[in-house]
Amino acid sequence: MKIVVVGSGGREHAIIKKLKENKTIEKIYALPGNGGIAEDAECVDIKATDIEGIVKFAVHNDIDYAVVAPDDPLVLGCVDALNYEGIPCFGPVSSAAMIEGSKVFAKNLMKKYGIPTAKYEVFESAEKALSYVKTAPLPTVIKADGLALGKGVIIAETRKDAEDAIVSIMENKRFGKSGDKIVIEEFLQGPEVSVLSFTDGKTVVPMISSMDHKRAHDNDEGLNTGGMGTVAPNPYYTEKVAAECMEKIFLPTIKAMNAEGRTFKGCLYFGLMITKDGPKVIEYNCRFGDPETQVVLPLLKTDLLTVMQATTNGDLDKINVEFSDKHACCVIAASDGYPEHYEKGFEITLPEDKTGIYVAGAAKKDGKLVTSGGRVLGVTRVADTLDGAIKEAYKAVQTVKFDNMYYRSDIGKRALQAKEN
Ligand code: AMP
Ligand code: GLY
Repeated sequence: MKIVVVGSGGREHAIIKKLKENKTIEKIYALPGNGGIAEDAECVDIKATDIEGIVKFAVHNDIDYAVVAPDDPLVLGCVDALNYEGIPCFGPVSSAAMIEGSKVFAKNLMKKYGIPTAKYEVFESAEKALSYVKTAPLPTVIKADGLALGKGVIIAETRKDAEDAIVSIMENKRFGKSGDKIVIEEFLQGPEVSVLSFTDGKTVVPMISSMDHKRAHDNDEGLNTGGMGTVAPNPYYTEKVAAECMEKIFLPTIKAMNAEGRTFKGCLYFGLMITKDGPKVIEYNCRFGDPETQVVLPLLKTDLLTVMQATTNGDLDKINVEFSDKHACCVIAASDGYPEHYEKGFEITLPEDKTGIYVAGAAKKDGKLVTSGGRVLGVTRVADTLDGAIKEAYKAVQTVKFDNMYYRSDIGKRALQAKEN
């Protein structure tokens, strides 16, 4: 069996390492992968958004199965194009990936099918949006409609912030065409939970829950990032909350997508906020989260390829997807200055044992691994307790070395406090 994994981050590295536990897989290609992934897969220099290049490569190399991990190729129709050539894939077709590709689509879907989410208005003109925020309750949340590298959400505390956000997104086109429309929504409060799920469009199997840490600095201060660390499971996701999510959010979403003729297969990510009125959807992603995957997959006991193929073939109901009852913690080692300006090109030293080391922003240069991005790598450790997983992850991150390395020192702290209360 020959597999292609499209993407180049820590998430893709975690997927590849997990797939490698299946000994029937002879070969994994990463398109394009990165300097660290090169230890575990053959990296081929084809960009994740080069759909034509990916399809050509898959056809010429007799690929049996493709895993399309990032949002942009999914929205661009990578799965549709591979399927057209007869190559089965893990991931949704473009019409279903719209659940992440357009926030306006996702919000309208939730409204139409009664799925709990923040109240909202859609705007296609800056003038109307500016007039609306003159009286909107504060803080208010402004979201660019399309993909924006995780930066398209602005929480405006003041009217001036709201106006600046609208002008920057809609008039100055900070996110290009992604800002042609915006959603302005109610500010919700409560702990956040990430739930990734496997679905074949009929059955939905939630994976173990997790908690992301999006802000750059300790105590959730600083700018929003792609994620600075994760723990799983998330203590706020109790059995009661899980049951409510299944009934009011997960199954209704799957059914809604079917009713719209956009059957979703692959990994559907539910970004949830547990408000005093119950769980509500903050966002949907059409893919595995990063760095959620780096704590969720190490806890998966069932063979990943088997589960992925069941989502493709529509027989997920026949598989028993099992997770360990242990805990995982992932600490992201970033380049100091991320998510703004940072230097690249520093040599990275990794420990001999690379278990749980998921490389993201690193390249090979003259045979050496050097930093090439903001989030350089993540280190995951699994233990019997959350406290143990956190301690082990922090011990392990100290075995990684590169100049200007930065990591948050409080990953998992909030989860530990929640468990104690
Ligand atoms: P997103 O890029 O959609 O994941 O949003 C980034 C972050 O913004 C989320 O993780 C939340 O912390 C926050 N956020 C998004 N929507 C809302 C909302 N309606 N109320 C409060 N916080 C929100
Ligand atoms: N960690 C959040 C995301 O993958 O969107």
